[in-house]
Amino acid sequence: MRTTITRGIAAIGATTLLFLGTACSNDREGSTSAKASGDATAGFAQDSLVGVALPAKTSENWVLAGDLFTNGLKDAGFKADVQYAGASTTVADQQAQISSMVTKGAKVIVIGATDASQLSTQVEQARQAGATVIAYDRLITNTPDVDYYIAFDNFKVGQLQGQALIDGMKAKKPKGPWTIELFSGSPDDNNSKVFFDGAMEVLKPLIDKKDIVVGSGQTDIKQTAIQGWKAENAQSRMDSLLTSTYNGGKKLDGVLSPNDTLARAIITSVQGSGKPVPVVTGQDSEVESVKSIMAGVQYSTINKDTRKLVAETIKMVQSLQKGEKPQINDTKSYNNGTKVVPAYLLPPIIVTKENAAEAYANDPKLSPLTK
Ligand code: BGC
Repeated sequence: MRTTITRGIAAIGATTLLFLGTACSNDREGSTSAKASGDATAGFAQDSLVGVALPAKTSENWVLAGDLFTNGLKDAGFKADVQYAGASTTVADQQAQISSMVTKGAKVIVIGATDASQLSTQVEQARQAGATVIAYDRLITNTPDVDYYIAFDNFKVGQLQGQALIDGMKAKKPKGPWTIELFSGSPDDNNSKVFFDGAMEVLKPLIDKKDIVVGSGQTDIKQTAIQGWKAENAQSRMDSLLTSTYNGGKKLDGVLSPNDTLARAIITSVQGSGKPVPVVTGQDSEVESVKSIMAGVQYSTINKDTRKLVAETIKMVQSLQKGEKPQINDTKSYNNGTKVVPAYLLPPIIVTKENAAEAYANDPKLSPLTK
């Protein structure tokens, strides 16, 4: 079974909120440990422990999430155990952290997976101990032991990135063909393929018509992937592409970058070569990228307000505590290879220089940058 998302997801608005019903029970068929899950029971004490296992701090959103979970869970009356995987031994760190949360008796464990496919033992332990497992931002794959998924609509993120790339290139050069390069995220993050697929859904028809040309010919996700979402890996791939493909004066019009960290690394590489900066997309609304967008360098980013995602996750925990079904709005898009995980998806927003002031109006950190 493919671990991916269906195209239908783009059509699902955040307003179409449903309560988890029979569809979900069907989704759970085949799960041996589903009965042990806390979500189908009468709730738990309000001062219970909630574990939050986050990946390494590969982008600002993860840094923000940690503090927001620590404070938000405490304000809601829970005990919070918030952990990050270290920078190098990410998988082993996260596995140990989750096991320790289970041992400490956490009633809910929220996980931003460092490697989607390496947590099945730990989430099985969690559910056997009666905890509910919520995959946060990144899906956990190949296991029946994930109760819920909460994230921004990842496929939509990719579509918005693909469209922004086209719009940005058209604004600079109204008629194609345009020459681009493609980058995608870390292969161990389930989101990477979903972002890429969303973007390719928009770009492929133009690639097929030869309105868009991938200069290097590297269109396979295996060729475009950036291990660990690391800036240095993106910079060195861009350096190589510039040497292999753009040395003879060929013009590069655009680069699909899956997030801001990689976008800035790609821009640094191009600037180092002395070539003009192409249209570069991004994601996360990181401070340095918002500054770059306002300065007319990076073209776009995506606003996925971490404050909202954490607040919605804490609402899920509160519903579980009361013995209620958490609100979900998608029961078909996220097949993790074993089952379809019921999801609550929030809408991402594309941001360019044009709408930045509006998009960040309610963000005290980012709105001053747009003035
Ligand atoms: C998140 C992105 C982030 C990336 C790297 C992804 O799973 O959805 O927002 O840029 O991880 O940290």
